Amino acid sequence: MSVQVPRRRLMAPDISARKGGVPIVALTSYHAHTAAIADAHCDFLLVGDSLGMVMHGYETTVPVPLDLMIMHARAVVRGSKKALVVVDMPFGTYEESPPVAFRNAARVMKETDCGAVKLEGGQRMAETIRYLVDRGIPVMAHIGLTPQSIHVLGGFKTQGRNVDQWANIENDARVVSDSGAFAVVLEAMAAPLAERITKAIPVPTIGIGASPGCDGQVLVMEDMLGLSPRVPKFVKEFGAIGKAIDRAIGLYADEVRARTFPASEHTYSVKGSEPEPVETVSPARATKKPRSPST
Ligand code: KIV
Repeated sequence: MSVQVPRRRLMAPDISARKGGVPIVALTSYHAHTAAIADAHCDFLLVGDSLGMVMHGYETTVPVPLDLMIMHARAVVRGSKKALVVVDMPFGTYEESPPVAFRNAARVMKETDCGAVKLEGGQRMAETIRYLVDRGIPVMAHIGLTPQSIHVLGGFKTQGRNVDQWANIENDARVVSDSGAFAVVLEAMAAPLAERITKAIPVPTIGIGASPGCDGQVLVMEDMLGLSPRVPKFVKEFGAIGKAIDRAIGLYADEVRARTFPASEHTYSVKGSEPEPVETVSPARATKKPRSPST
């Protein structure tokens, strides 16, 4: 399927315009070199706060600081040319009030040169989304499973499996869309509900553990590459990078120990004649220090 790609970097309205069309392709990205690879295939790259768990070993996304998001986002913007770069607002940087959210989101836009921010929450974030959009900051909303609220939700739980929950979640989708969000992430949600929301709102839905019926899909890059030790049910591993790294590092270790690496093609020769060889010294032994005389 061919997609008309503008020569410039994609912007939030380009993503909105894809509603109901060729599916939107997205991945998380935290790093310049992998961003450059993903840029050739993706419509947007998400600098997700999942980087706290994937790259920094946190148990949840709650501890992720804004400065860390900014540092990774700069790398992703530098590494990519074509995809829209969307940066997650981490927990505690936007919930307090619309002006606090604006101050932090403006900092993200100015310091990273990204094209949009993402924040978690439906109805409760409606006023903030409107406030940011009216002041020039494109917002991607994120509803369903919102990992920053894990302590309230009681775990990474699939949403909407019980039909009683549907009205609230569908209302969240309508409200964030009415408030000006240019797209909405639907995370870990019963497929029929995700399909229903996709039909009901005028902006693209981006599924992660939702449904192929969404307007686009996003996955955590390390999960789909086969680099993460544990992945949720909704992840398909399209690669086996973890195994490839293990194999490569094992070979390297073997060759270092066998002195077959570095080989002559990996070393530098001297121009002109070499100086006299030095005498080989025996390996250093731990010298026992004499005990200081007791007083
Ligand atoms: O942080 C992240 O990776 C995300 C995706 C799960 C959508 O928000």
